[in-house]
Amino acid sequence: MHLLITGGAGFIGSHVVRRFLRAHPGCRVTNLDSLTYAGNLANLRDLEDDPRYRFVRGDITDAAFVGKLFSENDFRGVVHLAAESHVDRSIADPTAFVMTNVIGTVNLLDAARRAWEGNMEGRRFYHVSTDEVYGTLEDGGGMFTESTPYDPHSPYSASKASSDHFVRAYHDTYGLPVVISNCSNNYGSHQFPEKLIPLFINNIRTGRELPIYGGGENVRDWLWVEDHARAIDLIYHEGKNGETYNIGGHNEWRNIDLVRLLCRIMDRKLERAEGESETLMRFVTDRAGHDLRYAIDASKLKHELGWEPSITFEEGLEKTVEWYLANGEWLEGVTSGAYQNYYEAHYGGR
Ligand code: NAD
Ligand code: TYD
Repeated sequence: MHLLITGGAGFIGSHVVRRFLRAHPGCRVTNLDSLTYAGNLANLRDLEDDPRYRFVRGDITDAAFVGKLFSENDFRGVVHLAAESHVDRSIADPTAFVMTNVIGTVNLLDAARRAWEGNMEGRRFYHVSTDEVYGTLEDGGGMFTESTPYDPHSPYSASKASSDHFVRAYHDTYGLPVVISNCSNNYGSHQFPEKLIPLFINNIRTGRELPIYGGGENVRDWLWVEDHARAIDLIYHEGKNGETYNIGGHNEWRNIDLVRLLCRIMDRKLERAEGESETLMRFVTDRAGHDLRYAIDASKLKHELGWEPSITFEEGLEKTVEWYLANGEWLEGVTSGAYQNYYEAHYGGR
């Protein structure tokens, strides 16, 4: 089985590449990634010597390049994660999100359609999406199901919603065998320290302020990234063509409560006085269009495919903190920008 995984040098993608190679001895993976600021090949250092793994540097917005890659390789399937993924960046520069998330996705869909035409049996195009396409929920009011109407508010979620529609359109129009999952907020190792949890771990570690948007009342449903990778593997192999699956942790936290928990764990791990990290908390101007609450109803995935999260948030957050503290070199490589030299140094510009 030769799979194309896009965005494999990013946070979730690196866990997905590792999951497929570890769980399926017969699987080969081509990791296609353009190495934006979010791509870090050091995330996959442990797999570099695996003959079943290959890295290709390339941009999914380049239709000719994507078409050529498909004509030169007989991919059985695609797991598509490459994206611009940070809401704050999408507010600053929406165009990059349209290019990669919409145009890039259409380029991949079109290349797969052309390459697989007349031979779709056993193929699969798996599109990894987000719960943010559903918009926002009232405090304490319901959860997102697979039939919740799309109502995106940020340029990021609007671009992901658009890409989801194109994926469904390729299924309905051309019979492309697609599957989509919409997942809640992920946390775990190898996440770029611009997202809440790794940013705050790094700031506490280095004694910098913790900027909490608005009053910290926003609620997110957090899932350990390895549980997401396991769900993607399961859905890839056992999900039904044309279907959507919600993935979530049944694990809602107000930002303020999450940050307080994180501060307590950090105080303990760093052997600081209780309450020391909390002194770094600062309430700052709210994010524009800040969605109040996300919560995923993942019962379809549980009932149809038997998936459930494997660990509690307290356990997962503790493991996550331990990973960043044990991998200060990784964090320093990212925050200094040195990680961007990894490709030249290890692949010699190939
Ligand atoms: P990330 O930003 O950490 O990684 C994205 C990867 O895509 C990077 O390696 C980057 O180099 C690559 N990439 C970006 N533009 C590219 C392009 N034009 N061509 C080729 N590669 C390109 O993102 P992530 O957090 O790992 O998210 C992965 C996917 O999962 C995204 O599609 C995102 O929408 C989705 N998702 C993320 C979360 C989350 O909490 N992080 C939750 C649900 C869904
Ligand atoms: P983030 O990790 O950016 O994920 P998303 O916006 O996709 O949910 O943010 C998680 C929550 O934390 C969100 O409500 C915004 C908030 N937040 C802060 O309060 N301060 C920060 O510095 C960041 C990055 C996020």
